Amino acid sequence: MLMIDLIRKKRDGGVLSADEIAWFVQEYVDGHLPDYQVSALLMAIWFRGMTDEETAQLTACMAASGEQVDLSRYGDLSVDKHSTGGVGDKTTLIIAPIVSALGLKMAKMSGRGLGHTGGTVDKLSAIDGFSVDLTPADFLRQVDEVGVAVIGQSGNLTPADKGLYALRDVTATVDSIPLIASSIMSKKLAAGAHTIVLDVKTGSGAFMQDPADAKKLADAMVAIGTAAGRKVAAILTDMDVPLGRAVGNALEVQEAIEVLRGGGPKDLRDVCVTLASKMVELGLNLSADEAKNRVEQVLDDGTAFTQFVRWVTAQGGKEEQLLHPEALPTATHSEPLLAPVSGCIKRMNAAQVGYAAMLLGGGRAKKDDVIDLTAGVRLCCKTGEQTTKGEPLAILYTSDPTRLAAAKEALLAAYEW
Ligand code: URA
Repeated sequence: MLMIDLIRKKRDGGVLSADEIAWFVQEYVDGHLPDYQVSALLMAIWFRGMTDEETAQLTACMAASGEQVDLSRYGDLSVDKHSTGGVGDKTTLIIAPIVSALGLKMAKMSGRGLGHTGGTVDKLSAIDGFSVDLTPADFLRQVDEVGVAVIGQSGNLTPADKGLYALRDVTATVDSIPLIASSIMSKKLAAGAHTIVLDVKTGSGAFMQDPADAKKLADAMVAIGTAAGRKVAAILTDMDVPLGRAVGNALEVQEAIEVLRGGGPKDLRDVCVTLASKMVELGLNLSADEAKNRVEQVLDDGTAFTQFVRWVTAQGGKEEQLLHPEALPTATHSEPLLAPVSGCIKRMNAAQVGYAAMLLGGGRAKKDDVIDLTAGVRLCCKTGEQTTKGEPLAILYTSDPTRLAAAKEALLAAYEW
């Protein structure tokens, strides 16, 4: 086969065969294809799209391109959850202990934050001592014994996606539904869970801002997972406004603990209950009502928080900081952003809030940036709430005070009255 023939076929609106896709992925991983030809094919896919069969085959080949985790011994009890990325999204920290307290097994690989969106691995790293680098044997032993383990992406998982994603990032080909769906689902399939719940965000802070596009992406991912023999459900959730009130790694751990102790912001608790209930419903074969009852019970009776402490300390996290979240690392500088007017907040741009947190040092502009785990924003006022001129809209946290002025300006631009 010749790469130029595949590019031409796709450019002209043709359908790539299963063999052609398998050949392309293998040749790419083996380093036999130049980036310019691969980029040309990606751009042709961006313009022409892919059929469901093509997308399923691309996903399967990418999933098989590296190591795959075998969780078959747990069957449907092995669960995973994927969020398409957001601002203030600390749901994994809350959901993992809930579902594992109820008997499900969560062996999760999570990502680091990039741009305005945060990553679970960074949030967990804000807890002193927490290790996101377990050996494969320790990872699985902990899942057996504790029911949950969360680590960073393994270097050997889906190398095809790793390379293709990096190319897409620099060739304006990220925002293609078949390419996003295959990228996400290849990692989910390789990570081994039989039951997968996808949290597809929509709104100003989401990857897919338009609900119709988010629905298309959700449908594409469910179709891929179901065709691969997994139990998959997708839920569209709101990311027009940041989730909860904390944006920034250590700040988000504190807020997750509030929810695990039965309190915390209602929007955050509600999303966690919805997603965890779906995982419990599918994984334990329960009715939707029974699943929700069980989830609410472990949140309210302290079982989920106890499980959180068990999980985090098993990975080296300091118990003291979980029992007394004020002992988590804190920023050396904080300053309020004062409301410039009195009135009701009509709209917020969640991505802009994430951007402000990034300017404070809490996020990465580039993949290799070192971040300040204490930096971020605590929102005093969100959409629909009243502000009084001169009262705090938000508190900004950072260990580098030279960052405050630009971050304040960016954060103010997130609000509309
Ligand atoms: N996240 C991924 O893992 N892949 C994409 O293509 C987009 C978001």
